[in-house]
Amino acid sequence: MSASLTAEEIRDVNTRYHDVAAHGYDAKWGIDFGEIGRGQVLGKLRKLLGSELDNGFDRSLEIGAGTGYFSLNLLQAGVVTRATCTDISPGMLATLAANAERLGLEVHTARADAESLPFSDESFDLVLGHAVLHHLPDLGRAFAEFHRVLRPGGRIVFAGEPSRVGDRIAALPKRGAGLVAPVWRRLLRAAPAPPDELPRGRGGAAYASDHDLERFVDIHAFDPGELARYARRAGFEAVRVRGEELAANWFGWFNRSLEASADPDDVPMIWRQYAFHGYLLLQRLDQVLLEPRLPPAIFYNLLITARRRS
Ligand SMILES: C[S@@+](CC[C@H](N)C(=O)[O-])C[C@H]1O[C@@H](n2cnc3c(N)ncnc32)[C@H](O)[C@@H]1O
Repeated sequence: MSASLTAEEIRDVNTRYHDVAAHGYDAKWGIDFGEIGRGQVLGKLRKLLGSELDNGFDRSLEIGAGTGYFSLNLLQAGVVTRATCTDISPGMLATLAANAERLGLEVHTARADAESLPFSDESFDLVLGHAVLHHLPDLGRAFAEFHRVLRPGGRIVFAGEPSRVGDRIAALPKRGAGLVAPVWRRLLRAAPAPPDELPRGRGGAAYASDHDLERFVDIHAFDPGELARYARRAGFEAVRVRGEELAANWFGWFNRSLEASADPDDVPMIWRQYAFHGYLLLQRLDQVLLEPRLPPAIFYNLLITARRRS
């Protein structure tokens, strides 16, 4: 955890950072609610659940649901029937509600901190999340809450959590992109990125930059064993942790870092298409060749599932 902020301040910065990010979030991260997005989300869940996924889940609760990447795709795929989506950021929930309306999906939203969920005991069959655990100051409390609101026999599934080793390795493509960015922008005739729209701290002082805030919102990277321990300590059984994305992440971070250095209006669509489809291709390569052979710890993302005892 960042040594300079209290748990309360971390929640506050997360709220502000994600409120600002909500508007352009789907475009920035290539979040899709069509066939591609559904395929990605189902692929992640299938890695953890296998054929159990085909049975589906009635009542799901998503933690840190953002703009709805997981829940809205799962609703469309018929994997969950009644979806509740929570997030600490009202801005994210507003974008999620707009996405749901556009897609004609019914979803219940509630602003909630993962560490104190406003739901009664044993009220869900599935508790899930994507790229959220690494933002939570007290993971022990959060896992205890996931356990409390799940019915006996219910499951947790979390994906997209940065691994400690994978995170370190990902610094290389980011650094490489920083070095070649001026040449890349010249080739594309793209202007440098305009300054960020800055959220303000509680005292009114502006944070140095959007990028700067990332240091304060991304507070954990995990070893697979450490993630599994949080689940076991909360009382879960059948804990499994997997790793995913290696080549895809190198490629993705390199391209995203280049794009972030340019005025978004100057990045041509053909480049975005190349980056997106190249990423999907390498995801497939990771899945077929690397994930079955290499240890989870070296991948960029970790996924975890576990079950509440019946
Ligand atoms: C990296 S985003 C991921 C969003 C979405 N799950 C996705 O995959 O697109 C992390 C999300 O976690 C939310 N978040 C951060 N801290 C939280 C907390 N303490 N409780 C609940 N949500 C939180 C953020 O507001 C943000 O929407």
